[in-house]
Amino acid sequence: MSLVLDVPNSVSIVEVGPRDGLQNEKTPLTVEDKVTLVNALSDTGLQRIEAGSFVSPKWVPQMANSSQVLASIRRKDGVIYSALTPNLRGFEDAVAAGANEVAVFGAASESFSQKNINCSIEQSIERFTPVIEAAKLAGMPVRGYVSCVLGCPYEGAISPQAVLEVSKTLLSLGCYEVSLGDTIGVGTPKKTSQLLSLLLSQLPMNNLALHMHDTYGQALANVLIGLQHGISNFDASVAGLGGCPYAKGASGNLATEDLLYMLSNMDIETGVDLSKLIKVGHNISVKLDRQNGAKAGIALSS
Ligand code: HMG
Ligand code: MG
Repeated sequence: MSLVLDVPNSVSIVEVGPRDGLQNEKTPLTVEDKVTLVNALSDTGLQRIEAGSFVSPKWVPQMANSSQVLASIRRKDGVIYSALTPNLRGFEDAVAAGANEVAVFGAASESFSQKNINCSIEQSIERFTPVIEAAKLAGMPVRGYVSCVLGCPYEGAISPQAVLEVSKTLLSLGCYEVSLGDTIGVGTPKKTSQLLSLLLSQLPMNNLALHMHDTYGQALANVLIGLQHGISNFDASVAGLGGCPYAKGASGNLATEDLLYMLSNMDIETGVDLSKLIKVGHNISVKLDRQNGAKAGIALSS
């Protein structure tokens, strides 16, 4: 067996801390604090930053000030500032606030779809269709998320076939990329490999991204499996911001610093400055009065 790793030379990181991270943090941040975070992230070399979410403030109060955040950030050339948009209203608000890209978010689990966006998978596709159409007319790229690709908090195991169906639908509607979310972090390398083998037999690898949560410490192992399958788009959250509402006390998203530490030490290009990112992770952890969730961040902080 060869130990030489056949992995991509470069990777694109989608920083989801200001959205997926902060939506799960119990300490609410002011617009100014969020703007400081997004601006600091822009200065690290990250090119794709999810800056907010245009959802019901009753469902996710932490994202209620996303319009003001997007309107107030200092935009850096070449950086894409994106936002979640579950419906047309969200899309219109995101456009008005100056988002460069939007994302629709579905699931491979019926129960999770109901709990998260209050509709079935089929209904969610009906809701996303006009959003994607409107985005096309506006010339705006749309990303698609599929949650619970490796397990669901309500249904347990999820069939890879169900993930394939939703991913295929989102791509055929016009999403340029589908981000595969291991929402509760239960994926292991074997399950991730099985899922990717099926998806890649029918979908182009360049249109897929991995969105790993580190609840059980499996995120980087799963990223490595993704790299070995040729995946070159990965989501991560600075300082590992965010928890997992289904597993109390558990860590949430894969920390961007840990992802970057691994990638840069494998000579995989990302364009992101690790030392700058570590400072951002430290500062936001202090602001939120929480333990820094990035192992590399703690190890390399002076
Ligand atoms: P609904 O109740 O089915 O829809 O919610 P509705 O149209 O009846 O609206 C209900 C209320 O929300 C109304 O207000 C609407 O005006 C308002 P009320 O009359 O009660 O005062 N509303 C909105 N407000 C602001 N912006 C909007 C909007 N739309 C309706 N765009 C809805 C459906 C999708 C809106 C709701 O379920 C919702 O907001 N869900 C949010 C779920 C969410 O944000 N989850 C977290 C993101 S997903 C995620 O984190 C996973 C991911 O990271 C990948 C992974 O980790 O796996 C992406
Ligand atoms: Mg997530």
